[in-house]
Amino acid sequence: MIVTTKDLFQHAYGKYAIGAYNINNLEQTVGLFRGNLGKKGSNDDPIDGNVSAPFILQLSRGARGYSDKRMLESLIRAADEVFPDAIFAVHLDHGTEEACYDCIESGFYSSVMIDASHYEFEKNVEITKRVVDRAHTEGIVVEAELGQLGGVEEDIVGSVKLTDPDQAAEFIEKTGVDSLAIAIGTSHGAFKFSGTQGLHYDVLEKIQKVVPAKFPLVMHGSSSVPKDWVDRINNAGGKLKDASGVDEKQYLPAAKMGVTKINIDTDGRLVWCAIHREHFRDQPEDFDLRPPGKTFMQAYAEYIIHKNTMLGSAGQLEGARKSLPGKSGCGCACSR
Ligand code: G3H
Ligand code: 13P
Ligand code: ZN
Repeated sequence: MIVTTKDLFQHAYGKYAIGAYNINNLEQTVGLFRGNLGKKGSNDDPIDGNVSAPFILQLSRGARGYSDKRMLESLIRAADEVFPDAIFAVHLDHGTEEACYDCIESGFYSSVMIDASHYEFEKNVEITKRVVDRAHTEGIVVEAELGQLGGVEEDIVGSVKLTDPDQAAEFIEKTGVDSLAIAIGTSHGAFKFSGTQGLHYDVLEKIQKVVPAKFPLVMHGSSSVPKDWVDRINNAGGKLKDASGVDEKQYLPAAKMGVTKINIDTDGRLVWCAIHREHFRDQPEDFDLRPPGKTFMQAYAEYIIHKNTMLGSAGQLEGARKSLPGKSGCGCACSR
């Protein structure tokens, strides 16, 4: 069932973070749905309630343009039928104003991100407010970004600018945005840190103090770039030197401080790369796409279960379902 990110945030806020996973193809989609339902090897495996989780599925502009946006959207519609127990939001990741309007008008996305963070504050406010006004008339929720992460965001290469807490409060008030991506030390891609840097909890703490109560914050660039997966890639012919990511143990403390959505894309690509490199290294005579695809779907489902465990969202699916508006049993549309 497709819900809005807002619905998911209400249940999660302050307790755990919802995983926001990017997808690009069929195998990622299947692995993602299976993993979030606690299934591993097959669509028909029973749901494991101990690890099943609500989630956010997100499409970047690059993913939408990889073949044709309708191909991926149709995959998601099919997954919603194949996995009727899943509860998820469909979200545009790093949208331009034009991409946001396209998604809002499609009637399919429950949430969009307008990323005008590379503009000056006032222009970011102006663009974000236009998108919020249009999205809200259609019941769609909006994420925006303030500050700059560094690394590569779609086609923009940026330098780090941590979010200013006072500006964050002003930005939320002026735009009416529903959630805010903040820069607190992470960056996109597989090369986040040299040395042992971590999250700037001090900045996060200040932001949480000045924004409205229970306002959902978002952390991009949150892949952990696990050493074991990087080693597997390198042992199978890859050359990922000095790759590093966010320590997974930092997810839950951030969640307790208001980070309610945690974005993970790179880790999924690393799993894909390792499985496919190993397969063709070990079976050089093979040229079939299905055997590594099958291994990948299972490995990705298992990886999602692990990730959700670190985010605290594993085991929260039924709680999130009960908290959806109109699902409380009290007969009204409240979210109790
Ligand atoms: O923030 C960037 C996301 O990881 C999306 O990456 O534009 O290569 O699809 P992409
Ligand atoms: P990673 O590159 O750390 O996976 O970040 C993904 C992201 O922020 C998508 O918006
Ligand atoms: Zn991002």
